[in-house]
Amino acid sequence: MLPVIVVQGGAGTVPSERSEKSKAGVCAAVRAGFAILRSGGSSMDAVVEAVTKLENDPNFNAGCGSVLTTSGNVEMDAIVMDGKTLASGAVSAVRNIANPVQLARLVMDKTSHNFLTAHGANEFARAMGVPEVPQESLITEYSRMRWRKNLAPDANPVECQMGKMGTVGAVAVDAEGNVACATSTGGILNKMEGRVGDTPCIGCGGYADNQVGAVSTTGHGEAIMKVTLARLILFHMEQGLSAEAASDLGLDYMKSRVHGLAGVVTVDPQGHWAARFSSLQMAWAAAQKDTLHYGLYAGEHFTKGIDEP
Ligand code: GLY
Repeated sequence: MLPVIVVQGGAGTVPSERSEKSKAGVCAAVRAGFAILRSGGSSMDAVVEAVTKLENDPNFNAGCGSVLTTSGNVEMDAIVMDGKTLASGAVSAVRNIANPVQLARLVMDKTSHNFLTAHGANEFARAMGVPEVPQESLITEYSRMRWRKNLAPDANPVECQMGKMGTVGAVAVDAEGNVACATSTGGILNKMEGRVGDTPCIGCGGYADNQVGAVSTTGHGEAIMKVTLARLILFHMEQGLSAEAASDLGLDYMKSRVHGLAGVVTVDPQGHWAARFSSLQMAWAAAQKDTLHYGLYAGEHFTKGIDEP
Protein backbone atom coordinates (compact mmCIF):
# COMPACT_ATOMS: atom_id res chain seq x y z
CA MET A 1 0.00 0.00 0.00
CA LEU A 2 2.94 2.39 0.67
CA PRO A 3 4.08 4.80 -0.58
CA VAL A 4 1.13 6.81 -1.91
CA ILE A 5 0.45 10.40 -2.95
CA VAL A 6 -2.83 12.12 -3.85
CA VAL A 7 -3.12 15.63 -5.33
CA GLN A 8 -6.03 18.00 -5.97
CA GLY A 9 -6.21 20.88 -8.44
CA GLY A 10 -9.14 22.78 -6.94
CA ALA A 11 -12.85 22.23 -6.28
CA GLY A 12 -15.28 24.17 -8.45
CA THR A 13 -16.47 24.17 -12.03
CA VAL A 14 -13.73 23.65 -14.58
CA PRO A 15 -14.60 25.23 -17.96
CA SER A 16 -14.73 22.52 -20.65
CA GLU A 17 -11.81 24.02 -22.58
CA ARG A 18 -9.61 23.60 -19.48
CA SER A 19 -10.67 20.14 -18.36
CA GLU A 20 -8.00 18.17 -20.28
CA LYS A 21 -5.28 20.60 -19.12
CA SER A 22 -6.47 20.24 -15.52
CA LYS A 23 -6.33 16.44 -15.69
CA ALA A 24 -2.89 16.54 -17.35
CA GLY A 25 -1.66 18.99 -14.70
CA VAL A 26 -2.67 16.89 -11.70
CA CYS A 27 -1.24 13.74 -13.35
CA ALA A 28 2.11 15.49 -13.95
CA ALA A 29 2.17 16.74 -10.36
CA VAL A 30 1.38 13.35 -8.85
CA ARG A 31 4.06 11.70 -11.00
CA ALA A 32 6.64 14.24 -9.79
CA GLY A 33 5.74 13.59 -6.16
CA PHE A 34 5.63 9.82 -6.61
CA ALA A 35 9.10 9.80 -8.21
CA ILE A 36 10.43 11.17 -4.90
CA LEU A 37 8.55 8.57 -2.86
CA ARG A 38 9.68 5.70 -5.12
CA SER A 39 13.31 6.66 -4.64
CA GLY A 40 12.89 6.55 -0.85
CA GLY A 41 12.18 10.27 -0.33
CA SER A 42 9.98 11.68 2.42
CA SER A 43 6.29 12.46 2.20
CA MET A 44 7.13 16.12 2.95
CA ASP A 45 9.51 16.34 -0.02
CA ALA A 46 6.91 14.64 -2.22
CA VAL A 47 3.98 16.94 -1.38
CA VAL A 48 6.11 20.08 -1.75
CA GLU A 49 7.34 18.88 -5.14
CA ALA A 50 3.82 18.06 -6.35
CA VAL A 51 2.40 21.40 -5.20
CA THR A 52 5.35 23.29 -6.70
CA LYS A 53 4.46 21.70 -10.07
CA LEU A 54 0.86 22.85 -9.71
CA GLU A 55 1.96 26.37 -8.70
CA ASN A 56 4.09 26.52 -11.86
CA ASP A 57 1.17 25.37 -14.05
CA PRO A 58 -0.86 28.43 -15.19
CA ASN A 59 -4.05 26.35 -15.34
CA PHE A 60 -4.40 26.31 -11.56
CA ASN A 61 -5.23 28.98 -8.99
CA ALA A 62 -1.88 29.01 -7.15
CA GLY A 63 1.49 30.56 -7.96
CA CYS A 64 1.36 31.45 -11.67
CA GLY A 65 -2.36 31.47 -12.51
CA SER A 66 -3.52 32.87 -9.16
CA VAL A 67 -6.73 34.87 -9.11
CA LEU A 68 -6.51 38.62 -8.51
CA THR A 69 -7.60 40.87 -5.66
CA THR A 70 -10.11 43.69 -6.26
CA SER A 71 -7.13 45.96 -7.01
CA GLY A 72 -5.70 43.48 -9.52
CA ASN A 73 -2.86 42.14 -7.37
CA VAL A 74 -1.74 38.58 -6.59
CA GLU A 75 -1.70 37.64 -2.89
CA MET A 76 -1.07 33.97 -2.12
CA ASP A 77 -1.43 31.63 0.87
CA ALA A 78 0.19 28.23 1.55
CA ILE A 79 0.71 25.64 4.28
CA VAL A 80 2.76 22.49 4.86
CA MET A 81 2.47 20.06 7.77
CA ASP A 82 4.62 17.11 8.84
CA GLY A 83 2.65 14.29 10.46
CA LYS A 84 5.65 12.84 12.31
CA THR A 85 6.37 15.92 14.44
CA LEU A 86 3.18 17.98 13.93
CA ALA A 87 5.47 20.78 12.75
CA SER A 88 3.85 23.15 10.27
CA GLY A 89 4.74 26.23 8.27
CA ALA A 90 2.44 28.72 6.60
CA VAL A 91 2.48 32.02 4.73
CA SER A 92 -0.37 34.32 3.81
CA ALA A 93 -0.91 37.32 1.53
CA VAL A 94 2.57 36.97 0.04
CA ARG A 95 3.38 38.74 -3.21
CA ASN A 96 5.99 38.27 -5.95
CA ILE A 97 6.88 34.72 -4.90
CA ALA A 98 6.72 31.97 -7.54
CA ASN A 99 6.34 29.09 -5.07
CA PRO A 100 4.65 30.00 -1.77
CA VAL A 101 4.61 26.32 -0.76
CA GLN A 102 8.42 26.34 -0.65
CA LEU A 103 8.34 29.50 1.46
CA ALA A 104 5.88 27.80 3.85
CA ARG A 105 8.35 24.91 4.13
CA LEU A 106 11.14 27.36 4.97
CA VAL A 107 8.97 28.86 7.72
CA MET A 108 8.62 25.36 9.18
CA ASP A 109 12.28 24.40 8.76
CA LYS A 110 14.10 27.67 9.47
CA THR A 111 12.05 29.62 12.03
CA SER A 112 10.61 28.98 15.47
CA HIS A 113 7.23 30.20 14.18
CA ASN A 114 4.37 28.47 12.38
CA PHE A 115 2.98 31.28 10.27
CA LEU A 116 4.31 34.47 8.63
CA THR A 117 2.14 36.94 6.78
CA ALA A 118 2.30 39.63 4.07
CA HIS A 119 5.28 42.02 4.37
CA GLY A 120 6.98 39.92 7.07
CA ALA A 121 6.72 36.78 4.96
CA ASN A 122 8.24 38.62 1.99
CA GLU A 123 11.05 39.97 4.23
CA PHE A 124 11.74 36.41 5.39
CA ALA A 125 11.81 35.21 1.77
CA ARG A 126 14.43 37.86 0.99
CA ALA A 127 16.51 36.80 4.01
CA MET A 128 16.35 33.17 2.83
CA GLY A 129 17.50 34.16 -0.67
CA VAL A 130 14.18 33.26 -2.29
CA PRO A 131 14.05 35.29 -5.52
CA GLU A 132 11.23 37.79 -5.98
CA VAL A 133 9.48 37.57 -9.34
CA PRO A 134 7.57 40.33 -11.14
CA GLN A 135 3.87 40.19 -10.34
CA GLU A 136 3.16 40.12 -14.08
CA SER A 137 4.83 36.70 -14.30
CA LEU A 138 2.16 35.29 -11.96
CA ILE A 139 -0.81 36.80 -13.83
CA THR A 140 -2.36 34.95 -16.76
CA GLU A 141 -4.66 36.39 -19.43
CA TYR A 142 -7.37 34.12 -18.04
CA SER A 143 -7.16 35.48 -14.49
CA ARG A 144 -7.07 39.06 -15.78
CA MET A 145 -10.15 38.39 -17.90
CA ARG A 146 -12.06 36.94 -14.95
CA TRP A 147 -11.01 39.83 -12.71
CA ARG A 148 -12.29 42.38 -15.27
CA LYS A 149 -15.51 40.43 -15.74
CA ASN A 150 -16.19 40.46 -12.02
CA LEU A 151 -15.59 44.23 -11.77
CA ALA A 152 -18.36 44.94 -14.29
CA PRO A 153 -21.52 46.50 -12.79
CA ASP A 154 -23.66 43.61 -14.07
CA ALA A 155 -21.25 40.92 -12.83
CA ASN A 156 -22.59 37.87 -11.04
CA PRO A 157 -19.84 37.32 -8.47
CA VAL A 158 -21.22 33.96 -7.32
CA GLU A 159 -21.33 32.54 -10.85
CA CYS A 160 -17.93 34.02 -11.63
CA GLN A 161 -16.47 32.59 -8.43
CA MET A 162 -17.73 29.10 -9.11
CA GLY A 163 -15.53 28.81 -12.17
CA LYS A 164 -12.38 29.55 -10.23
CA MET A 165 -12.76 28.38 -6.68
CA GLY A 166 -9.65 26.29 -6.70
CA THR A 167 -6.64 25.76 -4.57
CA VAL A 168 -4.03 23.07 -5.11
CA GLY A 169 -2.79 20.52 -2.64
CA ALA A 170 -1.30 17.13 -1.93
CA VAL A 171 -1.16 14.49 0.79
CA ALA A 172 1.29 11.58 0.92
CA VAL A 173 2.51 8.66 3.00
CA ASP A 174 6.12 7.60 2.50
CA ALA A 175 7.62 4.12 2.84
CA GLU A 176 8.25 4.75 6.55
CA GLY A 177 4.59 5.55 7.20
CA ASN A 178 5.09 9.29 7.68
CA VAL A 179 2.23 11.45 6.40
CA ALA A 180 2.41 15.06 5.16
CA CYS A 181 0.21 17.65 3.51
CA ALA A 182 0.77 20.81 1.44
CA THR A 183 -1.81 23.29 0.13
CA SER A 184 -1.37 26.51 -1.88
CA THR A 185 -3.74 29.08 -3.36
CA GLY A 186 -4.26 32.49 -4.90
CA GLY A 187 -7.43 32.63 -2.80
CA ILE A 188 -10.81 33.68 -4.14
CA LEU A 189 -11.52 35.86 -7.13
CA ASN A 190 -11.73 39.62 -6.49
CA LYS A 191 -11.03 39.17 -2.78
CA MET A 192 -10.26 42.21 -0.64
CA GLU A 193 -6.58 43.09 -0.28
CA GLY A 194 -5.31 41.35 2.86
CA ARG A 195 -8.04 38.69 2.86
CA VAL A 196 -6.71 35.38 4.18
CA GLY A 197 -8.67 32.21 3.53
CA ASP A 198 -8.60 28.70 4.92
CA THR A 199 -5.51 27.46 3.09
CA PRO A 200 -2.74 28.63 5.47
CA CYS A 201 -4.83 28.05 8.61
CA ILE A 202 -3.89 24.84 10.36
CA GLY A 203 -6.78 22.37 10.49
CA CYS A 204 -8.61 24.24 7.72
CA GLY A 205 -6.45 24.12 4.57
CA GLY A 206 -4.61 21.05 5.77
CA TYR A 207 -3.56 18.88 8.67
CA ALA A 208 -1.22 15.89 9.03
CA ASP A 209 -0.74 13.54 11.97
CA ASN A 210 1.01 10.16 11.73
CA GLN A 211 -1.47 8.76 14.25
CA VAL A 212 -4.48 9.44 11.99
CA GLY A 213 -3.68 10.65 8.45
CA ALA A 214 -3.45 13.79 6.36
CA VAL A 215 -5.93 16.02 4.53
CA SER A 216 -5.56 18.89 2.03
CA THR A 217 -8.70 20.93 1.31
CA THR A 218 -10.00 23.16 -1.48
CA GLY A 219 -13.17 25.22 -1.84
CA HIS A 220 -14.79 28.26 -0.34
CA GLY A 221 -12.34 29.36 2.35
CA GLU A 222 -14.75 31.25 4.58
CA ALA A 223 -17.01 28.17 4.76
CA ILE A 224 -14.10 25.73 5.24
CA MET A 225 -12.87 27.82 8.19
CA LYS A 226 -16.28 27.64 9.87
CA VAL A 227 -16.04 23.85 10.11
CA THR A 228 -12.20 23.43 10.25
CA LEU A 229 -12.67 20.89 7.50
CA ALA A 230 -9.27 19.14 7.50
CA ARG A 231 -9.30 18.51 11.25
CA LEU A 232 -12.99 17.58 11.19
CA ILE A 233 -12.28 14.79 8.70
CA LEU A 234 -9.35 13.52 10.77
CA PHE A 235 -11.60 13.57 13.84
CA HIS A 236 -14.02 11.24 12.03
CA MET A 237 -11.09 8.99 11.10
CA GLU A 238 -10.03 8.90 14.77
CA GLN A 239 -13.55 7.64 15.52
CA GLY A 240 -12.95 4.72 13.16
CA LEU A 241 -14.23 5.89 9.78
CA SER A 242 -12.27 5.21 6.59
CA ALA A 243 -10.54 8.05 4.73
CA GLU A 244 -13.37 8.03 2.18
CA ALA A 245 -16.28 7.88 4.64
CA ALA A 246 -14.74 10.55 6.88
CA SER A 247 -14.14 12.84 3.89
CA ASP A 248 -17.75 12.45 2.74
CA LEU A 249 -19.09 13.07 6.24
CA GLY A 250 -17.00 16.24 6.62
CA LEU A 251 -18.05 17.54 3.21
CA ASP A 252 -21.73 16.73 3.85
CA TYR A 253 -21.60 18.51 7.20
CA MET A 254 -20.03 21.59 5.60
CA LYS A 255 -22.72 21.62 2.90
CA SER A 256 -25.66 21.23 5.28
CA ARG A 257 -24.34 23.36 8.15
CA VAL A 258 -22.83 26.35 6.31
CA HIS A 259 -23.95 25.76 2.67
CA GLY A 260 -20.34 25.57 1.49
CA LEU A 261 -18.87 23.44 -1.29
CA ALA A 262 -15.39 21.96 -1.09
CA GLY A 263 -13.10 19.11 -2.04
CA VAL A 264 -10.44 17.12 -0.21
CA VAL A 265 -7.67 14.60 -0.69
CA THR A 266 -7.14 12.34 2.32
CA VAL A 267 -4.77 9.50 3.31
CA ASP A 268 -4.38 7.29 6.36
CA PRO A 269 -0.96 6.01 7.52
CA GLN A 270 -1.61 2.57 5.99
CA GLY A 271 -2.01 4.11 2.53
CA HIS A 272 -5.78 4.08 2.11
CA TRP A 273 -6.71 7.25 0.22
CA ALA A 274 -9.67 9.30 -0.98
CA ALA A 275 -10.32 12.19 -3.38
CA ARG A 276 -13.83 13.48 -2.63
CA PHE A 277 -15.75 16.70 -3.38
CA SER A 278 -19.17 18.32 -3.03
CA SER A 279 -18.49 20.80 -5.86
CA LEU A 280 -19.36 19.87 -9.44
CA GLN A 281 -15.74 19.02 -10.24
CA MET A 282 -12.29 18.64 -8.75
CA ALA A 283 -9.25 17.56 -10.76
CA TRP A 284 -7.43 14.91 -8.72
CA ALA A 285 -4.78 12.25 -9.21
CA ALA A 286 -3.24 9.54 -7.04
CA ALA A 287 -0.22 7.28 -7.46
CA GLN A 288 0.22 3.97 -5.65
CA LYS A 289 1.94 0.70 -6.61
CA ASP A 290 2.85 1.85 -10.13
CA THR A 291 -0.74 2.80 -10.93
CA LEU A 292 -1.91 6.32 -11.69
CA HIS A 293 -5.53 7.08 -10.78
CA TYR A 294 -7.23 10.32 -11.87
CA GLY A 295 -10.56 12.02 -12.47
CA LEU A 296 -12.47 15.27 -12.66
CA TYR A 297 -16.22 14.63 -12.23
CA ALA A 298 -17.90 12.79 -9.35
CA GLY A 299 -17.71 9.07 -10.01
CA GLU A 300 -15.03 9.45 -12.69
CA HIS A 301 -12.02 7.21 -12.00
CA PHE A 302 -9.49 6.44 -14.73
CA THR A 303 -6.36 4.34 -14.22
CA LYS A 304 -3.16 3.74 -16.15
CA GLY A 305 0.44 2.72 -15.53
CA ILE A 306 2.43 5.36 -13.68
CA ASP A 307 5.02 5.47 -16.50
CA GLU A 308 2.44 5.38 -19.32
CA PRO A 309 2.17 8.69 -21.20
N1 GLY B 1 -9.75 27.70 -0.44
C1 GLY B 1 -9.06 28.82 -0.93
C2 GLY B 1 -9.55 30.08 -0.41
O1 GLY B 1 -10.74 30.23 -0.14
O2 GLY B 1 -8.76 30.97 -0.27
